[in-house]
Amino acid sequence: MTWLVTGGAGYIGSHVVAAMRAAGEDVVVLDDLSSGVRERVGDVPLVPADVADGETVVRTVHEHGVRGVVHLAARKQVEESVRQPLRYYRENVEGLRALLEAVTGAGVTRFVFSSSAAVYGAPDVDLVDEGTACLPVNPYGRTKLIGEQMLADVAPATGLRYAALRYFNVAGAADPALADRGTANLVPLVFRQLVARRPPQVFGDDYDTPDGTCVRDFVHVADVASAHVAAAAALVEGRIEALTANIGRGDGVSVREVVETIRRVTGTADQPWSEPVVAPRRAGDPARVVASAELIRRELGWTAVHGIEEMVASAWEGWQAQAALTV
Ligand code: WQD
Repeated sequence: MTWLVTGGAGYIGSHVVAAMRAAGEDVVVLDDLSSGVRERVGDVPLVPADVADGETVVRTVHEHGVRGVVHLAARKQVEESVRQPLRYYRENVEGLRALLEAVTGAGVTRFVFSSSAAVYGAPDVDLVDEGTACLPVNPYGRTKLIGEQMLADVAPATGLRYAALRYFNVAGAADPALADRGTANLVPLVFRQLVARRPPQVFGDDYDTPDGTCVRDFVHVADVASAHVAAAAALVEGRIEALTANIGRGDGVSVREVVETIRRVTGTADQPWSEPVVAPRRAGDPARVVASAELIRRELGWTAVHGIEEMVASAWEGWQAQAALTV
């Protein structure tokens, strides 16, 4: 079966493309290359277009015999969404609306949607399950929750079957060439500091957590990709009609633990300048956001298999490979 993967030239998207092809699926990528990189796509057909370009989407669906869509193309930086909310509503909400109109009109009946733990906002629970109240605290999280609600409305009206996957903190790389090139999240930001021989910054160490720093659920991008393969197969086989599920490990790791792992993996732990410094809290950061991944285990038989050490080591290998590319 042929799948259209939007955002397939991006960090997570390129891992999803590789995993779906390895599972024997045919894939075509639609990506506006605003942040995606053509090289990540390899020999997969790439349509350089915006998801809101309905004419191109419909033509692509017909030309390639697309029967399913995996939609990852979106803006995903929390702080950027606070500064540019209308951009996020345009790209993440209007983009999804236009894409759904085009693909359902062209006969597509399966849809995998990239959602986020950001829909929960600042949950005050030990483990976040899919019944936890969705109270997003930033425009990014709100656009993802609206996307889920849009799917819930469109599915019964069009016969669409879908899976909405709520990613927690994605890190690592299955291939150095596919590593995250951004610096929007903890792991690459710490790499950037250490490469410049500057101390990593820890945004607050006075949270109500074991070591005072925030706790997150880090999940390897290879595991995130395998969850997409499992969801796609379940949609095709009719084992699911409408699934909204967390993608996490269920194991909280603190910011300080991640920083110490990075110092060890990068071989800088014995350098005094690599000692993290405590900076002021970052607005909107919840103390703890850790997933229960019980629902996806039960529905799809999926569990994450990679730990934080592998995430950091593979991300560092990718970072070094890109540094070699750029110098
Ligand atoms: C993690 C923790 C920071 C940098 C994001 C977004 C969204 C979602 C999940 C996809 C926080 C701390 C960070 C630094 C630090 N992904 N930090 N020093 O905010 O948990 O969630 O990822 O939908 O992209 O919601 O991720 O990596 O920005 O921060 O102390 O230099 O690391 O305060 O506690 P976050 P993050």
